[in-house]
Order: sequence, then C-alpha cells, then structure tokens
Amino acid sequence: MKTRKLLMIPGPTPVVRSIQDQMGRETVAFGDPDFVKDFKELVEDLKAMFDCNGEVFVVAGTGTMGMEMAIANTLKKGDNLLIVSHGFFGDRFIELCERKGLNADILSSEWGEIVPVEEIEEKLKEKKYAAITVTHVDTSTGVCAPISEIGELMKKHPETLYIVDGVCATAGEPEYMEEMGIDVLLTGTQKAFGVAPGLTMVWASKKAMDRRKELGVVSEYYIDFDKWLPVMKDPSKYYATPAVNMIWALQESVRIIKEEGLENRYDRHRKVADAMQAALEALGFKILAKEHCRASTLSNLIYPEGIDDAKFRGLLAEEGIVVAGGLGAYAGKMFRLGHMGNIDKHDLVSVIATIERALYRAGAPVELGKGVGVLQKHLV
Ligand SMILES: Cc1ncc(COP(=O)(O)O)c(C=O)c1O
Repeated sequence: MKTRKLLMIPGPTPVVRSIQDQMGRETVAFGDPDFVKDFKELVEDLKAMFDCNGEVFVVAGTGTMGMEMAIANTLKKGDNLLIVSHGFFGDRFIELCERKGLNADILSSEWGEIVPVEEIEEKLKEKKYAAITVTHVDTSTGVCAPISEIGELMKKHPETLYIVDGVCATAGEPEYMEEMGIDVLLTGTQKAFGVAPGLTMVWASKKAMDRRKELGVVSEYYIDFDKWLPVMKDPSKYYATPAVNMIWALQESVRIIKEEGLENRYDRHRKVADAMQAALEALGFKILAKEHCRASTLSNLIYPEGIDDAKFRGLLAEEGIVVAGGLGAYAGKMFRLGHMGNIDKHDLVSVIATIERALYRAGAPVELGKGVGVLQKHLV
C-alpha cells in the first residue's frame, strides 16, 4: 500500500479539505455578483485582521512578487534603502533593489542570529533612508526578527517606511501594523494561511499609500498599486483577471482563522514550535536559530553526527513525511521543517514518530518513542 505523504516543508503547507473544495468549485465570471461580494468581504477582513489603516492588495503571484510590489510602489531610483537580512530571503531584497537602482545598505547577521536593534538604530542615525526592509521569519534560518522592537525604533524615523516580509510569518507570528508601525506587509497564500501557492497579499499603510502618490507613474505595470486600487475598492471593476478560485480558497482560510481566533492561532503556533523543537532536540538535532530569535512557523534542524542528508530525507519521504533541505552553507547539514498553518496534533505526533523511524533506519542510535514522549508532554 502506498503511504500518504504529509507535506511538512516550510511552504506550501498542507491544504485542508474545505480550502481544497473552494479551489475545486466551478469557476464563475469575475463580475459575478456573488464573487464580487466574496472578494470585497475578503479585502475588508484582511485589512481588519492585521490592523491596516490603508489598503490591501490581493493579486495572483508569489511572495517574491509581493517583495517587488512593496519596493516598486514605495521607492524610486536613487533612493536610500536599508536592508536587514537574517538569511537567504533577506538577501533576496539586495538583488531586487540593486536592479531597481536603489542605494542599498545592508545589515546582515550570522545565520541563526539577528542583527542587533542598536546596529539598526546607528545606521538610521547616520543616514536618511526612504525605507527599511526586514524579513519577519527568514525561512532559510528559522530566525524571527524582533519586528515589534524595530517598529518602536521606526516611530522615531517617520520619514522611513517600514517594509516587513511576512511570507513565512503572517497568520502564524503576531503582526499588528498600526501598533508595530509597519507600513508595508507582504505575504503569499502558501504558508501560514494554509492555501495552495498562487496569491500575493500586500498591505500598505496610509503613509505607504501617500508615498505611492508622490512617486507618480511607476515603471512597473502589473504590480502597480494605482492600477489595482480601484479593483480592491470595488471588485466588480476589471484591471487584470483575478484568480477567482484562489480568492475563494483564501476566503475559506480567513474563515478558519476567524473561527480559531487570530490570537489563539498565534498562541497555537508558539506552543507547537516549543513542543516540536523540544522533541527534535531530544532526538539529537540542533536548532540553527538561537533561542532568543526562534520562529514559531518552522524549525531548521542541524543533523547529529553521522546522518547523511539525502539518505535521511529519502527515508523520511518513504515513510511519508516531506521536508526541505538546508540552504547556503547549511545544504547537506540541515533540514527544514514547517509547522505552520492548518496542521493539528495528529500531524505533529505523526511527524515526530516518522522522524524517529527514519533516524532508526538511517542507523542512528535513537531510542524509539523518546521524541514522541517529549512532544506528548508538551501537547497535553
Ligand atoms: C521569507 C520569504 N520571503 C520570500 C519568499 C519568496 O516567496 P515565493 O517563493 O512565494 O516567491 C519566501 C519563500 O519561501 C520566504 O520564505
């Protein structure tokens, strides 16, 4: 019999049946009155959920497009920009911004650590920046940036827009745009929202929308806020074809989130991360991110001595759990495990038990049940 595969990479995450059902619905015209109503409700819900005093844009695309959309609508050639990077995805802003002719200064941390907030403060004192980018959770390192603390600092620099990449965080890690002073927040559907890949969400505060106005005509076309704004205000209008079924799928995800309660969802993610990380440490893995900056949405796990990455992940896949490999210098030394979105206790127990079986089959001196025991103590 074929083993079912549980998708535990850090995105896409498992998609529950009710969300799949929305994707499988018969597609209607984007001007269909019922669809227009659904889209409008979704836009309002998304703004309310993250305390956005401006606008939200829901457009077909991926997280990278969200990064580009954030930059294209707030900065122009020659602007100074500060990039705070905690890994591969923080670094992605560098090339993106260099191509746009921005003057980017970069503050990077060693993988597993954060850039100290004092260093960011020093930089902001030295130079006037049009914007700063911070990746909330860098998926390559499992590091969670102190976005609230940075937000406090940003309140002293109102001329600088605060752009947060929430691709591996939004709907799993606390984000309150007003309170944290975030001007642009961006994410994709495939991570903590638990929807298949396909939609980008970008929230822009009033201040970010004012900046967009100051820029006049921007060179980007599909991702221009100005082009999409009339659609977001009245989804019966056309600019480019909305991804009808994906919008329904996201609406169902938002319904699930509202039913759970966003605060409860954040709490659940924290508890799940603590439980999984304790269980995995008990099995001999080392967590790359230091304890003070560990994400709730995923864990990046360095192998115990003697475990071969390809063999281990192959065995794990055979046993039914799909995880991702390490990036950069950690390729072959680490694996990445997502634990965000709509996963439940059944999934967690199954994941740890399966990791134990894969370790055992890989010849590691593992005590079967040890990780599950630790996990169970955290889950009751
Ligand atoms: C933090 C972060 N930012 C941006 C991206 C890019 O998103 P996408 O692959 O959807 O373009 C990712 C992808 O994993 C990510 O983890």
